[in-house]
Amino acid sequence: HEEFTKVKNIAKIELGRYEIDTWYFSPFPPEYNDSVKQLYFCEFCLNFMKRKEQLQRHMRKCDLKHPPGDEIYRNGTLSMFEVDGKKNKVYGQNLCYLAKLFLDHKTLYYDVDLFLFYILCECDDRGCHMVGYFSKEKHSEESYNLACILTLPPYQRKGYGKFLIAFSYELSKKEGKVGTPERPLSDLGLLSYRGYWTRVLLEILKKHKSNISIKELSDMTAIKADDILSTLQSLDLIQYRKGQHAICADPKVLDRHLKAAGRGGLEVDVSKLIWTPYK
Ligand code: COA
Ligand code: NA
Repeated sequence: HEEFTKVKNIAKIELGRYEIDTWYFSPFPPEYNDSVKQLYFCEFCLNFMKRKEQLQRHMRKCDLKHPPGDEIYRNGTLSMFEVDGKKNKVYGQNLCYLAKLFLDHKTLYYDVDLFLFYILCECDDRGCHMVGYFSKEKHSEESYNLACILTLPPYQRKGYGKFLIAFSYELSKKEGKVGTPERPLSDLGLLSYRGYWTRVLLEILKKHKSNISIKELSDMTAIKADDILSTLQSLDLIQYRKGQHAICADPKVLDRHLKAAGRGGLEVDVSKLIWTPYK
């Protein structure tokens, strides 16, 4: 892909109260690529500008105080907004430009029409401030329930990534479908998924002992069977006997793996999710 080889163009962005160093190239329109090394984003509509004064002028006019979509989840200060890329094309495109600054190998979707964007925010009296997001195809042939996932660097390593992943599976459960993230996953993406899968599956195995099949695990969690199998295999929890496979559920072994899988992340309280699947 052409984007692989491109040199990082924008070194830094300002977004809300943060200055953030970028990680990768992002294909901003040509007039933003030369001469500027920093871009200024409106944290609400995600329009970007070359100069601080332009942003200040913009902030006086922009009346958005949250992402331009429906609030589908609210728990304390944490909110999730669903933005339809077809109804909010410019927002969707701006978000893709922003996200690409932190995503190496992902192809960017300029066809934002086909996607829903789930924007996670921390809210206060000044508004709802984006922490991260994931995108999801409206209709996926491959049962993808997540295309891109990002936690903005100032918010990373606090459990938001696992919250986003958990949220994507809660949506799949409401759809009555299994889901899987689009590949390839980045190193950090895979680490986060492995941690999430391990925690969710091993907590269930602990409760049910070994009397549970991969199919049942999949039905309960909306995690695709392949991902369950690869997670359990990587933990060496699958044993083959007489052409059958059995899942090891030794509580000591499970506890050891659970400990190694890291913290649980922020909980999704499903009772606070008000959402119906996209039609
Ligand atoms: N070093 C080592 N492990 C890390 C890590 C890091 N810098 N960042 C995350 N992890 C692992 C840890 O196991 C962590 O769990 P722990 O903190 O309990 O040990 C787990 O991933 C998830 O942490 P969490 O805080 O829930 O995730 P996050 O909010 O930092 O978001 C990503 C995770 C992947 C969304 C984030 O790193 C990101 O946006 N990366 C850039 C974009 C990207 O690569 N997206 C995935 C493309 S497929
Ligand atoms: Na991704």
